[in-house]
Amino acid sequence: MSQALSVKHLTGIKNLSPEDINLVFSTAVNFKEVINRPIKKVPSLRDVTIANLFFENSTRTRISFELAEKRLSADVLNFSSSASSVSKGETLIDTVNNILAMKVDMVVMRHPKPGAAIFLSERVNAKIINAGDGTHEHPTQALLDAYSIKEKHGTLKGIRVAIIGDIMHSRVALSNIFCLQKCGAEVMVCGPPTLIPKFMEETGARVEFNLKKALQWCDVANVLRIQLERQDIKYFPSLREYIMQYGINKNVLDGLGKKVTIMHPGPINRGVEITSDVADGSQSIILDQVENGVAIRMAVLYLLASK
Ligand code: CP
Repeated sequence: MSQALSVKHLTGIKNLSPEDINLVFSTAVNFKEVINRPIKKVPSLRDVTIANLFFENSTRTRISFELAEKRLSADVLNFSSSASSVSKGETLIDTVNNILAMKVDMVVMRHPKPGAAIFLSERVNAKIINAGDGTHEHPTQALLDAYSIKEKHGTLKGIRVAIIGDIMHSRVALSNIFCLQKCGAEVMVCGPPTLIPKFMEETGARVEFNLKKALQWCDVANVLRIQLERQDIKYFPSLREYIMQYGINKNVLDGLGKKVTIMHPGPINRGVEITSDVADGSQSIILDQVENGVAIRMAVLYLLASK
């Protein structure tokens, strides 16, 4: 197997090959072992400077990238748009070029506009990692989700994954569909018809509007929150109705007669898309996803830096 990624930047899963994904996974296995040692640090990225540019809020992704960079001994700069000159009208290219003039090697960027990471990768002289661009892609989330399923089920081939909730406004859904299909899993999306975009069937994902049928079909349910901050109109009559039709609670799970693995990329809206007894229950691997996120991001940073 090749020991180098086929891409210079990680802007999305769409342009990764199955071999690239396997290489990230096998590298992450080694880094997961490292972060569980008493001494959790390796010198792999010593003298590499990485800027984390977050133009949109984040808890998990931002902390996970920063921790991954520090575990690899990189020098780390953190930038958030709310405390920067972006609010004075500076463009994205000017902001990034000013940061790169300070001899930065890699940029991890979250941005509200779809395509922002691709735009940047075509215009600046640094390696770009997309940490989520609007409703487009969130590649490291998809990699850590697929890795966590493989860890739990031993394989991704033939595993049935239902992505449930607000598919329309989710970058996690699209990246997960691309990643899981490249790894040989079957994918279904489930939610209210108004929250499932028409192009979904073109991706090869099954579409199901009935939650119980989706849960009966799948081995793994990846539950997404309603992205109210990205909704300009009402997509369902009320939150109460959404909870009744699509909320996952213990009664729904216990009625299936089989064990479905429960995932959630966070942030969770407890009591809306998922109840606490399910999110914190024995079928949930939500915190394993978070732990695996550090190892996956170490692998991505290491492999891109080595290119
Ligand atoms: N899963 C995820 O992207 O979470 P954050 O928005 O907290 O980074």
